Amino acid sequence: MTEVLRHDVVIVGGGAAGLRAAIAAVEADPGISVALVSKVYPMRSHTVSAEGGAAAVARDDDSFEMHGYDTVKGSDFLGDQDVIQYFVEQAPPELTRLEHWGCPWSRNADGTVATRAFGGMTTKRTWYAADKVGFHMLHTLFQHSMRFDRIVRYDEQFVTKLLVEDGAVRGVAALDIRQGEVRAILGRAVILATGGAGKCFPFTTNGNIKTGDGMALAYREGVALKDMEFVQYHPTGLPGTGILITEATRGEGGRLFNARGERFLETKPEYGVGSKLELGPRDMISRAIFQEIRAGNGIQGTFGEYVHLDLTHLGRELLEKRLPFVLELARTYAGVDPVTQPIPIRPVVHYMMGGVDTDIDGATELAGLYAVGECAAHSMNGANRLGSNSLTECLVFGARAGRHAVGHAKDSGDGSEDPLRRQVEEEAARIDGLRGRAKGSEKLTQVRDEMTQAMESGCGVYREQASMRSATETLAQLRRRCADVALEDRSRVFNTEIVAALELVNMIDVAETVAVAALQRRESRGAHACSEFPGRNDREFLHHSLVYYEPAGPRFDKKDVALGRWEPEERKY
Ligand code: FUM
Repeated sequence: MTEVLRHDVVIVGGGAAGLRAAIAAVEADPGISVALVSKVYPMRSHTVSAEGGAAAVARDDDSFEMHGYDTVKGSDFLGDQDVIQYFVEQAPPELTRLEHWGCPWSRNADGTVATRAFGGMTTKRTWYAADKVGFHMLHTLFQHSMRFDRIVRYDEQFVTKLLVEDGAVRGVAALDIRQGEVRAILGRAVILATGGAGKCFPFTTNGNIKTGDGMALAYREGVALKDMEFVQYHPTGLPGTGILITEATRGEGGRLFNARGERFLETKPEYGVGSKLELGPRDMISRAIFQEIRAGNGIQGTFGEYVHLDLTHLGRELLEKRLPFVLELARTYAGVDPVTQPIPIRPVVHYMMGGVDTDIDGATELAGLYAVGECAAHSMNGANRLGSNSLTECLVFGARAGRHAVGHAKDSGDGSEDPLRRQVEEEAARIDGLRGRAKGSEKLTQVRDEMTQAMESGCGVYREQASMRSATETLAQLRRRCADVALEDRSRVFNTEIVAALELVNMIDVAETVAVAALQRRESRGAHACSEFPGRNDREFLHHSLVYYEPAGPRFDKKDVALGRWEPEERKY
């Protein structure tokens, strides 16, 4: 007998965006009950690994207009300006609220909140708590959420399907990873907050859990994924592991050098970062490092070529106070002491600008379905996100979507349970069929490796028409081959092989949308650098990309960008 649990709002994902949405929902209405469903314990959500900070206007030399313009320009004019305006205005109250809930923001000597410089920002507006910002934000949100017994947590429950009936989402089917049961968690609104899909690539800062689950769930129910071609490479990851060395290192004055000891962002104006140098935006700096390596100016290492990030001139005291985590990471995982030695770094996949197509409320085109955080594309980040905007984005749009989901839930009826129960029974039978499905001829790890290789060669820092086309073909084949993956583990308890198989299907679906959208964009904009079309082409491509799921293969469409006070102009720094 299928177990059916009932709440008003179901949130999938327990990171910053999901927790903020949950708190906003229960605060919006004292009678509302929220299910917070996560495939991990919330404290293991990927938010915990964010390091450098969260952006919001805090100083007298700053303004909403400046933050807005920086974000629009950073997005290469593909960000929706109404969304960005709302974001910059709501950012300071959200970060202040977090402080009231206990977040230990670092302070200036006079007691005001300390802010640091970040890439693409014209002034210091990134709030920080040393370099463990995600850790502190996640703890604060989690602890605050525990004040509300109407937020009911379902930890280690993997949502495998959205339950849709009569054109509206009505809940989710969730696999209890601990016991192997599949149950229905019903709600009149569902908010997806599952993060990005960096694990579609072989080399990423992302944790293993970032497999695009929420994007794939929405996509398979007919909701478009938007702007998926824009994949952000963070300039400074550790070779080998991909561990993030925060942009705060450059915010505090870190410098980049090639094998010749040349500060290439200064000596080569063609990289386009102007006087910003190491505080240029991520897309430009990643391309510059890539070009240095391609030109033979990289330093050879065990895990390929890299360049140097030098912090030695900053001194031990500053590094220990503001960047203690960087010291720990570099010493442990790169075997260098940044107090006296440069850190080897190279660009690494970090963030997806694209995601589930939503409006400013986080609402999708499927009634009752919302998405927030990296899993969503409210169209704030356009073609390139500025570092430190995303933690704030999780709060601003998590709160807004939480409130709107409550409004939707209150206006909607429960409907009949029977069709939903049947959907869950079918889903349980499907998942049971995977358990120990030894007869398949494909190996899960092989298919996954081929997927990540296709993404790196087709949708990396620089892209070519032929390699993008070949990636779309490979991914279409891998999608079919996935159905024939052999699985050996027959157990019900913590059958992580089944979870990995389900995640692989999610990643391939999402990866395919990235490659399809990339192939359609025959220009270069933000993080999408296409070798055959090196310039931005506003006449033909000033639009969002939409990719829809069709059984025969992805379908491509477009959507207008919401322009406003800032007219598109050449993006120069
Ligand atoms: O470098 C960093 O600390 C990353 C920040 C971000 O992606 O916003």
